[in-house]
Amino acid sequence: MMFERFSVEGYGAIVTGGASGIGLAFVEALADSGARVAILDMDSVSLGKQVDRLFARGLDVRGHKLDVTDRKAVDQVFAEVAAEYGRLDVVFANAGIDPGIGFSNPDGSPSEAGAIENYEDERWNRNIEVNLNGIFATIRAAARHMKRGGGGGSIVVTTSIAAYLNEGMIGAAYMAAKAGAAHLARNAALELAPHKIRVNAVAPGFIVTNIGGGWLKQPEVQNSIGATIPIGRIGDADDLKGLALFLASPASSYITGAQIPIDGGVSLGKRLA
Ligand SMILES: NC(=O)c1ccc[n+]([C@@H]2O[C@H](COP(=O)([O-])OP(=O)(O)OC[C@H]3O[C@@H](n4cnc5c(N)ncnc54)[C@H](O)[C@@H]3O)[C@@H](O)[C@H]2O)c1
Repeated sequence: MMFERFSVEGYGAIVTGGASGIGLAFVEALADSGARVAILDMDSVSLGKQVDRLFARGLDVRGHKLDVTDRKAVDQVFAEVAAEYGRLDVVFANAGIDPGIGFSNPDGSPSEAGAIENYEDERWNRNIEVNLNGIFATIRAAARHMKRGGGGGSIVVTTSIAAYLNEGMIGAAYMAAKAGAAHLARNAALELAPHKIRVNAVAPGFIVTNIGGGWLKQPEVQNSIGATIPIGRIGDADDLKGLALFLASPASSYITGAQIPIDGGVSLGKRLA
């Protein structure tokens, strides 16, 4: 049956940053489809709440408090989860933090603090640490366990349209981190292909989540940004579920090294009015 190609039944999966937003949608897509899912997140309050909620729905989920910038802890949690599940089929390297200020304000005026000559080390380092180094630590741990398991696997990295599009409102460090994560994913895809481990990236556009203090939840922001998006609206985390299941399952068995935009057409450019 065709739908069997999309089955992740019985898979062992890990989702970083899975207690909120896009990561939570990935968790639900996998767990609702019969996978066992370990949610790794540094926010223990949201983590506890989501694990309880999903567990009460009868889903096979577990939570681990983890900061992906702590590489020893990443290795430790991956070892625990792999031992518990006895297999690791799917890893979503998704945890990330907001872009911070860019060189333009939302009204198009120049932003002093986001200007390259004023860009603070702390802002630069933190973004690279989570959004690039955290992805490296996650891919590395995933590769170790999947190679050892010998049964292949699927690694999915959450990048952003900021990995290849420049936008004045988005911080420079985020652009660099996401572009780095995207290229790292392609390199890992090439390296791991002989082991039947696929590595792909999803590049979301504007999706309503808790990122940046949940700024995209404001109706006026949604309307103004939504009007610039070819599909005519801002995205919802649920919009990512189909792609998540596709990339996790054998339905995408011949796809590796791809970065798939999921952005309502933003990457296509602006339509003339
Ligand atoms: N929402 C968007 O519009 C959008 C667009 C493009 C890319 N993204 C990317 O999607 C990913 C998920 O973001 P989201 O929008 O769902 O945001 P979110 O804030 O709703 O969720 C992010 C989750 O990651 C966790 N997290 C943050 N830093 C962590 C760390 N160091 N270790 C472990 N967990 C950590 C947070 O606690 C949170 O639960 C990020 O990589 C983000 O850059 C989001």
